Amino acid sequence: MDIPTLQKLVPLHGVPMAIEIAENWETVEQFQAKSDDLVISTYPKAGTTWASEIVDMIYAGGDLEKCCRDTIYNRVPYLEARIPGMPTGVEQLAVAPSPRLLKTHLPIHMMPNSFWEKNAKVIYVARNAKDVAVSYFFFHQIVKAMPDPGPWGVFLDNYMEGNVSYGSWYEHVKGWWEKRNDHNILYLFYEDMKEDPKREIRKMLHFLEKDMSDDIVEKIAYHTSFDIMKTNDMANYKTIPNELLDQSTTSFMRKGIAGDWKNHFTVAQNEKFDEEYKRKMSDTRLHFRSEI
Ligand code: A3P
Repeated sequence: MDIPTLQKLVPLHGVPMAIEIAENWETVEQFQAKSDDLVISTYPKAGTTWASEIVDMIYAGGDLEKCCRDTIYNRVPYLEARIPGMPTGVEQLAVAPSPRLLKTHLPIHMMPNSFWEKNAKVIYVARNAKDVAVSYFFFHQIVKAMPDPGPWGVFLDNYMEGNVSYGSWYEHVKGWWEKRNDHNILYLFYEDMKEDPKREIRKMLHFLEKDMSDDIVEKIAYHTSFDIMKTNDMANYKTIPNELLDQSTTSFMRKGIAGDWKNHFTVAQNEKFDEEYKRKMSDTRLHFRSEI
């Protein structure tokens, strides 16, 4: 087992990215998409794993056993991933049978062109900025290779500045939102998925041109609920060794709610955040709910 070294962030197309990804960029940029690929795209911590599990269950016709064939990170490879001692996302995808499912956290301007040339479908999941900040902070603590986030207040400032891996949440959610009608993109919200998972699963089915009975939709919603996924070792990242992902203090499947930010933001942090948010979101009609 290669013990990971602390991840260094370097600018790539104007976005702070892990040096391992930047060094491997050519192979990602030249990735050959297929027209039947399905991409799950998110800013980190917006519900990637949840959406991935739902989509894999849809592709498996609701058959849970099929979804337990492998871990979520093998069933839905991470396009730009480059983790020492493991096959890269591009290598995994090269041998994955079609139709391929894949995930990415790339801002839209960094997506390999072939996805647009092939008109591949993308499900984008967005989550409110405050809950993402909290979730990302805890994630930095459990992923051994991630940069030290420092204390919460320091991390929050860096996050607001876009000075974290994958850069600015604002640019990410707005970038994908603005282009959603130019490409084959279904734009969903984590909070909507929490509020009514079956409704959002049906949106996915419609987008994927698939039809399923209410019973199967119910089954998918049940098996992809937070409590069930938390105990499913094929979905909860428990199979990743402690040296890479240390879940002894916080689980990857941490809380899975909308509004946990209220337990972490001070009044002053919240006021500063809201002011900044207003300014940075003044040029869009994209609207988020930070509680439901
Ligand atoms: P929290 O840290 O707020 O709990 P990603 O998969 O993009 O890394 O996102 C991880 C976040 O999604 C974590 O948020 C995790 O708990 C939450 N999550 C994962 N599966 C979920 C589910 N089935 N329902 C709700 N939230 C889920």
